[in-house]
Amino acid sequence: MAARQQLGLRGQGAQSSERKLFTADIHEAVAPVSVGYDPELGLDVFWNDGRACTYAPAWLRRHDYSDEPTRRARRFSPTLWDEKASEPPRVGHTDVVATTTGQLAYLDALREFGAVIVTGVPSLDGEVERFAEVFGPVRELAFERVHNVRLDPGGYNVAHTSGELKPHTDFPSYAWPPSVQLLHFRANRTTGGESNLVDGWAAIAELRRTHPEHFAVLTRVPVPYQLFSEHEDTAAEAPMIELDPSGDVRLCRFSNQLAQPLRAPFDQVEAFYAAYRTLGRIIDSGRYRATFKSADGDLLTVHAHRVLHGRLAYDPASGARHLQNVYMEFDDLTARRRVLRGEHKPLPAQPLR
Ligand SMILES: [Fe+2]
Repeated sequence: MAARQQLGLRGQGAQSSERKLFTADIHEAVAPVSVGYDPELGLDVFWNDGRACTYAPAWLRRHDYSDEPTRRARRFSPTLWDEKASEPPRVGHTDVVATTTGQLAYLDALREFGAVIVTGVPSLDGEVERFAEVFGPVRELAFERVHNVRLDPGGYNVAHTSGELKPHTDFPSYAWPPSVQLLHFRANRTTGGESNLVDGWAAIAELRRTHPEHFAVLTRVPVPYQLFSEHEDTAAEAPMIELDPSGDVRLCRFSNQLAQPLRAPFDQVEAFYAAYRTLGRIIDSGRYRATFKSADGDLLTVHAHRVLHGRLAYDPASGARHLQNVYMEFDDLTARRRVLRGEHKPLPAQPLR
């Protein structure tokens, strides 16, 4: 919060341009009666209710109804990881919290690569929460606001063991799982315990290319997920792969530890497990995977609807290991990026005269 204030990013804007005209009140008979074109200003439209408007060329181009290839070319699509993936980009903590260029480097890396490491974050209790609030609100979930990951025989999930954690996404047991995860390595001095990240969207792209029938099954069959403790419960049912209205992957749920028995019709079960097995083997193949050792003070951020995280087993007797993590929403981070870049204000429809 303080850093956002420092950069002048908090505070109310003067104008939100919210629409005051109720769209349903526009009579369906309203139509253009004539049009003209002014090369300086744009398109003049004379309406049959007596009004006349001029529309700026740049506004018309932004809002045209082009065919799908043209609109697709205008949408951002990140570069998926190669079969031999490199480690996530790194940025320094001081730059990120104190400068606009540092914040943009962090946000650009997350948007493009789906993962970014901030180095040199003070190993203080709750520092990950303070870091998150530089960019936006923390997404609070069940169990803890700041989740502690360390060896804990009474812990509520497998992350509290010292065993290998296969790459997975967290909290698929919510109808909308958290879309950003920040993992702060306060101490990571054990033998083993390397981080394992997999680009889930790249793995799904391979599945779609090589086994389209398996891909289709995983977009259709709902999977129940549950994470609970003695006093709390989270549960949701959704397909492993969710698509956006254009057919692109929007959300990957993959959690061996939280998936429950299917409630699907019996004739879908074999097809589901064949598809699940195939995707699981791609995810576990080593392709689209980055494996690296995080140092004390590293803070790993992943786009959690895209990039799966895991770790190799570690020897708890070999040194200290304590991670703290919080969750956020990707929407809030992409919004922060647009504001920092000055891209959030809509183009005026009317030309500036
Ligand atoms: Fe996890």
